[in-house]
Amino acid sequence: MLKASDFPADFVWGVSSAAAQTEGAASKDGRGPSIWDDFAKRKKVKGNQSPEQACEFYDRFEEDILLLKSLGIPNFRFSISWSRILPDGTGAVNKAGINFYHKLIDTCLQNGIEPWITLYHWDLPLALEKKGGWKNREIIHWFKDYAAVCLAEYGEKVKHWMLLNEPLVFTGAGYFAGYHAPGKRGMSNFLAAAYHAALAQGYVSKFIKTNYPNVQVGATFSCSFNTPYSLKEKDLNACKRVDTLLNKFFIEPNLGLGFPVKELSALKAINKHMQPGDEEMLKADFDFIGLQVYTREVIAHSFFTPYLRAKIVSASKRKVFHTNMNWEVYPDAIFEVIKLFSAYEGVKKIYITENGASFSDQLLNGRVHDFHRQDYLEKHIKKLHEASLFFPKLKGYFVWSATDNFEWTEGYKQRFGIIHINYETLERTVKDSAYWYRDFLSN
Ligand code: BGC
Repeated sequence: MLKASDFPADFVWGVSSAAAQTEGAASKDGRGPSIWDDFAKRKKVKGNQSPEQACEFYDRFEEDILLLKSLGIPNFRFSISWSRILPDGTGAVNKAGINFYHKLIDTCLQNGIEPWITLYHWDLPLALEKKGGWKNREIIHWFKDYAAVCLAEYGEKVKHWMLLNEPLVFTGAGYFAGYHAPGKRGMSNFLAAAYHAALAQGYVSKFIKTNYPNVQVGATFSCSFNTPYSLKEKDLNACKRVDTLLNKFFIEPNLGLGFPVKELSALKAINKHMQPGDEEMLKADFDFIGLQVYTREVIAHSFFTPYLRAKIVSASKRKVFHTNMNWEVYPDAIFEVIKLFSAYEGVKKIYITENGASFSDQLLNGRVHDFHRQDYLEKHIKKLHEASLFFPKLKGYFVWSATDNFEWTEGYKQRFGIIHINYETLERTVKDSAYWYRDFLSN
């Protein structure tokens, strides 16, 4: 049986989570509202659910950290809620919010768990959205000021910092398709938000590296292995366009390669946001990148899809085994994306910062026998091991997610955790997949 000890000695293992998905305590101790609180209030989340309570991680984090410790999980990636630190997004700092993350970080460290922090995991302060949010170029300064507060407070204690979580998803789903907060739609909203997200990463990564040279800075990118539906030229070309959007659109400008608009002419209007000096500003100073990979996509030409002229052929349509998100279980995808991103000269280190699966779980006599999730992790980690033999830039892996949590527009029905949450009692139950991960990690 494969063990963590079969990987390079410095390989990092952990679990991931995010503030808006777990903390709850939405208006406690001076926290300001975020766009997700507002989105839920506008009844945009399935079942009219909201992140207001979530897993009550804000009040129960000690219990969760002790559970991670009992499982022997050495690294914990979580995010900071911007509006807990700066309730209005800029200006006055909320001392209670600052103290909360000190306590959280200290509790991790006291229990031998290394904290990895994401600065922005999609919960923009509502006050900033009212000023245009990611569509407003000013956001690069708002984000820098927020990062400056966090680094000044926690920079001595926390070594690994990630700037934006999956910029393609929060700008695409939030500003183009409208099914994530803030619920905006259309190409011009998307291009403005996408441009400023890429610019913010370049700008703030250099700000942090200049002022805090001892920390490691990166960002996390959503990615998928994309294959054509058929070998017809139309499908091959459709697949190339989607691959450019899903895998290249955000990393290439941050690597100094510009937006890949030659391959995706539908997005070339993004360059109209460019101002003198931006080319340099877009280049990020990343010590590492995080890749978040769940599945592969099968792509077909589609005459009716504007801009992309391509569509995803869903897993259920193809009648292949899939998770509750209708994402195909396809372990080779993890190998393929590591290969793809390793090939960029500018990429120094790669961590898989998210990988995991949502399945229906049954809590029976204090146990959750989540065989499918365990099998998913086992198969993906096997492919990860193969990748570690070929691609030395690969340095670590984090399961999504530590606990079940608020799955954005999907609400609480989708469960990704290796620890089960009973949303009525908030009781935690370690699932079989977590016991499997514990045994895999133990020597
Ligand atoms: C996000 C997580 C999300 C997970 C599963 C990633 O896109 O970073 O917040 O819960 O995928 O959908």
